[in-house]
Amino acid sequence: MNKPVSSILEVVGNTPMIELHKVVDESMARVLVKCEFLQPSGSVKDRMAQHIIEQAEARGEIKPGGTLVEATAGNTGLAVAMVAAVKGYRAIFVMPDKFSVEKINMLKAFGSEVVVTPTAVPEDHPESWREVAKRIVRETPNSLLIDQFFNLDNIEAHYQTTGPELWEQTDGEIDAFVSGAGSGGTISGVGRYLKEKAKEAGKEVRNVLFDPPGSILYNSYYKKPVTDKTGWKMEGVGNGFVPGCLDFSVIDEVKQVNDRQAFYMTRRLAREEGLFVGDTSGAGIFAAIEVARALGPGKTVVAVCGDSGNRYLSKVYNDEWLRDNGFALHGFGLWKGRVADVLSHKGGDVIFAEADEDISTVAGRMGDHGISQMPIAGTGGRSHMMIHESDLLQALLLGTLKPNDPVLEAANELKGKVTPHDHIAMLEPLLDDASVAVVTDDANTITGIISKIDVVKYIASL
Ligand SMILES: Cc1ncc(COP(=O)(O)O)c(C=O)c1O
Repeated sequence: MNKPVSSILEVVGNTPMIELHKVVDESMARVLVKCEFLQPSGSVKDRMAQHIIEQAEARGEIKPGGTLVEATAGNTGLAVAMVAAVKGYRAIFVMPDKFSVEKINMLKAFGSEVVVTPTAVPEDHPESWREVAKRIVRETPNSLLIDQFFNLDNIEAHYQTTGPELWEQTDGEIDAFVSGAGSGGTISGVGRYLKEKAKEAGKEVRNVLFDPPGSILYNSYYKKPVTDKTGWKMEGVGNGFVPGCLDFSVIDEVKQVNDRQAFYMTRRLAREEGLFVGDTSGAGIFAAIEVARALGPGKTVVAVCGDSGNRYLSKVYNDEWLRDNGFALHGFGLWKGRVADVLSHKGGDVIFAEADEDISTVAGRMGDHGISQMPIAGTGGRSHMMIHESDLLQALLLGTLKPNDPVLEAANELKGKVTPHDHIAMLEPLLDDASVAVVTDDANTITGIISKIDVVKYIASL
């Protein structure tokens, strides 16, 4: 048995690692969960909160009786609030108004003060959460801004603790690490440690960041313009700016995971693996499964489960909230099968349009095959394009294009991508938003197009 310790701060870190069995299959690498949701304040943030505060104490930047201030989405606040309670500091937290009421009430339970700011202001606006936090520090003597997004002690905390734990728990048998980034501290610290250890051991470790569409991290990493202006609902990962604690140099790949995929996997983790975790954990495991599928058996992927499900009883674990927000996932249990099943029931090959084909030829081919849209083949950097009959109609009616112009001129960026391995529930929103779902394989090649009627026919055949 463990001996008694002098405060809760002594049990930060050393979290268990658990292997997944139900949401994975034998064709994949082993997937292990690093259980950061079992930290004393309930999230991955405990390590960095303690480290940042103790480093500031050591440097004399905060004295007994001082005030800790942070702009935080909640988890960091809870971690800082816990450390503040033990060490006797006052704590003030600033957060945007989109975060869950559970988190605010928990902060207050630790004796902290909470200031709520509007979500809908730019990051550099004086009323933005980060600017308000800075102002409070300027106005309060003996105060410290935790500054998780730019304080490099955040990276150091994970470099010194989480990284070594991952290496030791797997005996160095780790081939990929998957995490989201809020501040970037976790993936940058763990990622750097794993790269160094792998080099010493003469092996490769792949660091994979997952990011929700709408966050700019994916686009910044791949140096693409941000086109998706929709927000995301999962809490604590993704960002509207690139934080100073996010070190792209240790990251090998960024995968986009949307709210639907995150929520779907979060609910499965609770029901099938007994892991009552938050929605970013679902997103991380969703990405980890893709990585595990690509790596194949005999390899090991470790993903962070960053916080507990307790904080999301009013969101991802509430069927009504899911429904009100357009996620009809409560029905997923009724529909059996994967995207691959719908595709094989449908049969047939994908019909592509060539980029230099003219509009009238493509329109003729659409008519011959009785289809309303075609992906565009062989367009190099613009290969992810789709032409829909309504695009053709609009261009011709408005006179912006002529029948002999290349079809590519009327094409739009391809939306609604799914993989053959996705559960059939992943098709439902795509059919509304994008009118078809485009099936792409692991190499991003289009292997099928699924329309509403294909899904209807498949379900009717069950
Ligand atoms: C809930 C949650 N918050 C935050 C993070 C990452 O935090 P950071 O990048 O600030 O270290 C994760 C990682 O996946 C997470 O699951």
